[in-house]
Amino acid sequence: MTDKKVILAEPRGFCAGVRRAIEIVEKALEVHGAPVYVRKEIVHNHYVVGVLKRRGAIFVDSEADVPPGAVCVFSAHGVAPAVRENAKSRRLDTIDATCPLVSKVHQEARRYARDGRTLLLVGHADHEEVEGTYGEAPDRTVIVESVESARELDLPRDTPVAVLTQTTLSMDETEGIVAALGERFDDLRSPADGDICYASTNRQVAVKEIAVRSDLVLVVGSRNSSNSVRMVEVALLEGTAAYLVPDVTELDTSWLEGVRTIGVSAGASAPELLVDQLLERLDQLGYHDVELSVTTKEDVVFQLPSGLNQARPSA
Ligand code: F3S
Repeated sequence: MTDKKVILAEPRGFCAGVRRAIEIVEKALEVHGAPVYVRKEIVHNHYVVGVLKRRGAIFVDSEADVPPGAVCVFSAHGVAPAVRENAKSRRLDTIDATCPLVSKVHQEARRYARDGRTLLLVGHADHEEVEGTYGEAPDRTVIVESVESARELDLPRDTPVAVLTQTTLSMDETEGIVAALGERFDDLRSPADGDICYASTNRQVAVKEIAVRSDLVLVVGSRNSSNSVRMVEVALLEGTAAYLVPDVTELDTSWLEGVRTIGVSAGASAPELLVDQLLERLDQLGYHDVELSVTTKEDVVFQLPSGLNQARPSA
């Protein structure tokens, strides 16, 4: 076969929230020196976590694992107010790397809860972002994971509710769940633009575009990366075989049998270096041509927290 090729999706890879979170840890290491503690994986990518570990970041599961007085960075996925309280009581020097688009969902949760609404939080219960948002109003929040659970909610029809979502969900799946909630409740509010972030939306649109033109789609991303897993699902829904490739060593060449066109993309927490390594391997396997498929250009940039931005490393 001579017409083997790769279609590379754009946008792909790092979003503004991930860039900012990684930069915050780098800057914290520069300003405070190692070690800097990070609560949970700063972003869901094993390569990124490995690099930061080598530079002196210590990743912990809980703020309770950080020695009193030490620097502790909260990950891009956000934290519940109880975590902030606990960190404060342990006198931790906290730096917040929560993505501003996750913080926006927290604000909405507080506002709707103040208005007396029951919060219907669409997302995956075991994901850190959902744990954090849930923690804003645990007594009045119900997590909704599927259309079935939306239909089966044990709440009266006239309950004033508000629908919030995890930022990295599949647009299509979420639409179905929100529609089911709309049929179930008479007094339902939701944020005008929804909560699925620009980066998840753009990457899903781009992956759909390459999926319809490819025999196989490969998405670079870690298994615990919600938005990367959703991108694989989006390609599968288009009827195209698709796999997550955490790194090039996990490429299974049996997937390529009879495949002429491979669509390649990367989740919002996957570094471009891992995409380059995959493309290099595909080149060795005969996929020399790479065509770029651009669905939109991104120019979103989030500022660093002001204190950190102004801080200068000590001599
Ligand atoms: Fe933020 Fe969306 Fe990235 S919520 S961290 S911009 S995937």
